[in-house]
Amino acid sequence: MKRSFALAVMAGLIIFSFCQGEAGRRSAGQPAAVSQTSSEGAVAPGLDPPAAGQARPVGIGPVKSLSLGPVDQALADNGKALFEDRCAMCHGLGEAKSGPAVGNILNEVAPEYVMNFLLNTGVMEQKDARIIGLIKKFTMPMPAPGLDKDQARAILEYLRTTKKQPRP
Ligand code: HEC
Repeated sequence: MKRSFALAVMAGLIIFSFCQGEAGRRSAGQPAAVSQTSSEGAVAPGLDPPAAGQARPVGIGPVKSLSLGPVDQALADNGKALFEDRCAMCHGLGEAKSGPAVGNILNEVAPEYVMNFLLNTGVMEQKDARIIGLIKKFTMPMPAPGLDKDQARAILEYLRTTKKQPRP
């Protein structure tokens, strides 16, 4: 009886320390992710707030925070034309080509992230863990698209309209 109690305590300790290790690893990963973001992880007011504990990354670059209202359809149409002209050869909305599918990107990253990546591509390709992972996966970095801020904003507006699944 005593012995099985001791065994149970030991098993408990092992499980406990394993869980601690897991939590430790997870939180060790967190500061890196946070320091990737150049502003406070803020998500634009008015646009789908992230589920608790799942702030979408904002990336690294000139766009610290955006406030987005309802979709501006004229701007989105403008962005669609730009996208078809300059992006669609490498990106499908729902399927990967030589780059990842981007139709649902705003479920994964904040709108600021898309703008920062488009305007500050080279720096994010060196410093943003998520982009570094994509370069490995797609075996090439995306060439800097050479957009100005208004063009990047128009493409962002278009990508707001392609978002398939609203965040919970
Ligand atoms: C020559 C092919 C090519 C072109 C043209 C191109 N991309 Fe990319 N794109 C890629 C590749 C490859 C990646 C993944 C590697 C990287 O991020 O550098 C990528 C990554 C991205 C990402 C990050 C996706 C994520 O899940 O974080 C976005 C957003 C993006 N591209 C948008 C665009 C837009 C918008 C345009 C047009 C202005 C464009 N791309 C033009 C190849 C391309």
